Amino acid sequence: MTIAPHTRTTTAVPTQSTYQNRVAEYWNAEENPVNLELGKIDDLYHHHYGVGQADRSVLDEPDPDRRRARVTAELHRLEHAQAELLAAHLGPLSPTDRVFDAGCGRGGGSVVAHLRYGCHADGVTISAKQAEFAGAQARKRGIDDKVRYHHRNMLDTGFPSGAFAASWNNESTMYVELDLLFAEHARLLRRGGRYVVITGCYNDTYGQASREVSLINAHYICDIHPRSAYFRALARNRLVPVHVEDLTEAAIPYWELRKEADHLVTGIEDTFLTAYRNGSFQYLLIAADRV
Ligand SMILES: C[S@@+](CC[C@H](N)C(=O)[O-])C[C@H]1O[C@@H](n2cnc3c(N)ncnc32)[C@H](O)[C@@H]1O
Repeated sequence: MTIAPHTRTTTAVPTQSTYQNRVAEYWNAEENPVNLELGKIDDLYHHHYGVGQADRSVLDEPDPDRRRARVTAELHRLEHAQAELLAAHLGPLSPTDRVFDAGCGRGGGSVVAHLRYGCHADGVTISAKQAEFAGAQARKRGIDDKVRYHHRNMLDTGFPSGAFAASWNNESTMYVELDLLFAEHARLLRRGGRYVVITGCYNDTYGQASREVSLINAHYICDIHPRSAYFRALARNRLVPVHVEDLTEAAIPYWELRKEADHLVTGIEDTFLTAYRNGSFQYLLIAADRV
C-alpha cells in the first residue's frame, strides 16, 4: 500500500508519558510525615517500608510526646535496616566503583551505599523536587563530589553503558514496565555487575491481583507486578538471580507498628497487613548478576 505524503500526520512523541507526568506530580507534591519526620532524625530520607522485629515497648511510653518520638525512631530503624540489607547485597565494591539508584526518592539509599563502600552513586528520580532535595542533602553532608542526584527517567538515563558496578530499585519497580527497566540496568551494568531489587509483588499462586493489591495500586498510582514477571523479565535481560529472599514475614512488624502511630499513618496500613496475611501479596528481595 502506498500512502501519499500529504496524508501522513506526525505526532510528537512526549519525552514523558501522561502516566509518568502523574507519577512525577505525585512525588513533587508528597510531604507525608512518615517520609519526612523519620528522615529528619539523621538526614537519611527513605521512602520505603521496613524489615525486622519491632521493639513494641515504644508503645508503652506514657508521655505522649516521647511516645511519638520513640515510635518514629523505631520505624526509622526498621526502614534503615531495609536500606542496609539491600546495600549489603550490592558488594563487594570499592571507592572507585559507581552505583546507580533507580527511582531514588529523597536520596537515602545512595547515601547508605556510599557510606558503606565509599563508592560513587548516581540517584535518578522522575521528581524534580526530590532530585533537588537529595542534592541539597548531599551538599550538606559534603559528599556531593561522589553522590549525585538527577531528575531523569530511570528507563532512559543517558548514562554511559557498562559504567556501573551495581544498581538497584528499592520500591520503585511498580511504576514501570519491567522489560524496559531491566534493559536499562543491563545496559548500564558492567559484566558481572550486581542488580538488587526490593519490591512488593502479587503472589501468582493466589491467582490474579487481590482487592488489597488493587487498593495499594490506587493509593500510590502504581501497578504492582506479579512475582513471575520479575523472573521472566530478568532472564530476558541478561540478569541472572543469585539470591532470592521472601521478606513478607519480616515486613509485617513495621506495618503493625506503623498502624499504631497516629501521627504517621496514611490510611493504607490495614490494606498492607491484610494483603500480606491473606497470601495475595509478597515482599521480595532479588539479587541478580549481569551476565
Ligand atoms: C516509593 S519511592 C522509593 C524511593 C527510594 N527508592 C527509596 O527507597 O527511598 C518511588 C520512587 O520512584 C520514582 N520513580 C517512579 N517512576 C520513575 C521513573 N520512570 N524514573 C525515575 N524515577 C521514577 C519516584 O520519583 C520515587 O522517587
